[in-house]
Amino acid sequence: MFNKQTVRDVDVRGKKVLVRVDFNVPLKDGQVADDTRIRAALPTITYLLDNGAAVILISHLGRPKGEHKPELSLRPVATHLEKLLGRPVTFAEDCIGPAAETAAAALEPGQVLLLENTRFHPEEKKNDPQMARQLAALADLYVNDAFGSAHRAHASTEGVAHYLPAVAGFLMEKEIRYLGQAIANPEKPFTAILGGAKIGDKIGVIRNLLDKADQILIGGGMANTFFKAQGYPVGDSLVEDDALETARSLLADAGSKLRLPVDVVIADAFDNAANSRIMAVGPIPEGWRILDIGPETVANYAKVIAAAKTVVWNGPMGVFEMPNFAKGTFGIAEAVAASDAVSIVGGGDSVAAVKQSGLAEKITHISTGGGASLEMLEGKVLPGLAALRDA
Ligand code: 3PG
Repeated sequence: MFNKQTVRDVDVRGKKVLVRVDFNVPLKDGQVADDTRIRAALPTITYLLDNGAAVILISHLGRPKGEHKPELSLRPVATHLEKLLGRPVTFAEDCIGPAAETAAAALEPGQVLLLENTRFHPEEKKNDPQMARQLAALADLYVNDAFGSAHRAHASTEGVAHYLPAVAGFLMEKEIRYLGQAIANPEKPFTAILGGAKIGDKIGVIRNLLDKADQILIGGGMANTFFKAQGYPVGDSLVEDDALETARSLLADAGSKLRLPVDVVIADAFDNAANSRIMAVGPIPEGWRILDIGPETVANYAKVIAAAKTVVWNGPMGVFEMPNFAKGTFGIAEAVAASDAVSIVGGGDSVAAVKQSGLAEKITHISTGGGASLEMLEGKVLPGLAALRDA
């Protein structure tokens, strides 16, 4: 459960506060294409400003591999943040060194500074103590509100917390409360819906949920590997041959808890315009591939979801980017939205699907974390959280 100090537990007035946010957002034509993560950080930023702090924001953007890549500059995010906050946001060309030090030193209470992409320095991902100390030297207090990056032990997410008083922001608190509660003490019945392409990415989650969830509903490409493990030919479907053994052992350990699709949508090409049909699960014809779960599966899963008190969903049920193979994913989105359960959706693709379906408002909590939410569901300790002060 959540047992860390937050910004509410410390005196921030007159302090320079270094806030690690996850502004790793999609950019298009030099503009922010989806500002969900930026908006999610606003409660912490405005709280600090309203309480007399000077706010220094740090984040990574993309994977520049320790080099200065202009297309991964956070400058467009500063411009966007100005609009959301309705006040100026100063931008510094570097997150450490003279540019950062001068800008941070000049910052007054009530003002906001955004520093350049932390991953322009190779030391960030190495969690280099020298970089962590340089970041810490900019401020009096460290706040981690970057839930989406909390599974990374980097200089700006973990290292820096050893050199300043370090507490959580409101987004971090909210994410950990919802996801932590679902894992540690879910109201039952607890249904987990897991999809996406690969079993490989979800083995840890399935294993951790085996003794916690009442039902685990499987969809997406990963179902194919389970089908093959059960002995069905899967035609040209995506399949992980190196995960067949794992799939067999998960099936054996899970028993009836793990539910697989009973029907699927198959197509003769990986193309929205391909010939397609619905079939009961069984040998998939040569030259055909599974691209979605079928309507009977959606109906069965919807019944389980309707009876649940806690629902966690990660990963789409099919290739929902193609309209002809999106019905499974959207059908599940509708079922989750219609349920009275505490519903939590995490992972980029399932979040995108829920938003596309226009049902996001009906979900209790949409996580801003992809990898971080998966690691929570795996029951792992998030280093960015662990480094913060205990309550
Ligand atoms: C994410 O988008 O999941 C986080 O920002 C972490 O990014 P990363 O996978 O590049 O570390």
